[in-house]
Amino acid sequence: MAELSGKSVYITGGASGIGRAVVEEFVKEGAFVTVLDRSAEGLKELEQQFGEKVRTITGDVTIYEDHQRAVETAVEAFGKLDVLISNAGVFDAFAKFVNVTPEAMSEAYDILFSINVKGSFFAAKAAVEELKRTRGNIIFTLSGASFYPDGGGVWYTASKHAQLGLLRQLAFELAPDVRVNAVAPGGTLTALSVIAPLRPFVNIVDNETKAKSIKTRNPLKIVMASEDHVGAYLLLASDKARAITGEVISSDGGLVVRGLS
Ligand SMILES: NC(=O)c1ccc[n+]([C@@H]2O[C@H](COP(=O)([O-])OP(=O)(O)OC[C@H]3O[C@@H](n4cnc5c(N)ncnc54)[C@H](O)[C@@H]3O)[C@@H](O)[C@H]2O)c1
Repeated sequence: MAELSGKSVYITGGASGIGRAVVEEFVKEGAFVTVLDRSAEGLKELEQQFGEKVRTITGDVTIYEDHQRAVETAVEAFGKLDVLISNAGVFDAFAKFVNVTPEAMSEAYDILFSINVKGSFFAAKAAVEELKRTRGNIIFTLSGASFYPDGGGVWYTASKHAQLGLLRQLAFELAPDVRVNAVAPGGTLTALSVIAPLRPFVNIVDNETKAKSIKTRNPLKIVMASEDHVGAYLLLASDKARAITGEVISSDGGLVVRGLS
């Protein structure tokens, strides 16, 4: 039987990259998926590809009401909510703290923390009552930057550490009703966008350069693609993980093996 047969899943940032690969895998495994994303175009593609198996909401993770709409949509369409995946995120492209002006620093902080951190608070808050009803689970998309330096600049690294704190405290508070876990991908070839205030301070690299850098930095020497991470999400979402909460699966080509932890 399919691993997620009949499960109702709400994911943010599912129109592209890692989130999109998760949507594809989860639908294949029998789930019904509600996707919130700010890319109307990406959402349209999902609708065309998956038809009745998906519902889409064009919205912004920094707006609480958009999460409420998404949760309501999932419950109306599929009768319940079993899994929340808070995945939408943006990047600082390794902008160097000392080079950035105070104004840009402040603006970057507000934008990046609103999306990466507040977006996860909002998603969890909007979904928690429905998840309690199903004894469901939450999965956050963290990063190697939740544990190590040099997975981004200070904005991204601090935001991904903050999400780790959110995960741990929520896993504590929501037990025994809701499991709370995360996947921490390493550098992956996606279109992860760089926030506007930091663009003047960074070099936006092409995919070939990015692929080389990803390969050099992880011990398994893998150029990771979004699809490489879906197995970790699948395990955490499924009933096979009923004893797992407060955990992070690192899907990063073995960053810990570098001995930097
Ligand atoms: N690509 C990497 O190297 C990498 C590594 C580790 C962790 N991650 C994390 O993976 C997650 C997904 O990123 P990705 O690499 O797949 O990038 P991506 O840009 O391909 O996907 C992110 C999706 O989130 C959406 N999004 C962004 N801001 C939004 C907002 N305010 N409201 C609604 N939707 C919004 C985008 O439209 C996009 O569809 C992020 O949390 C990111 O931090 C990425």
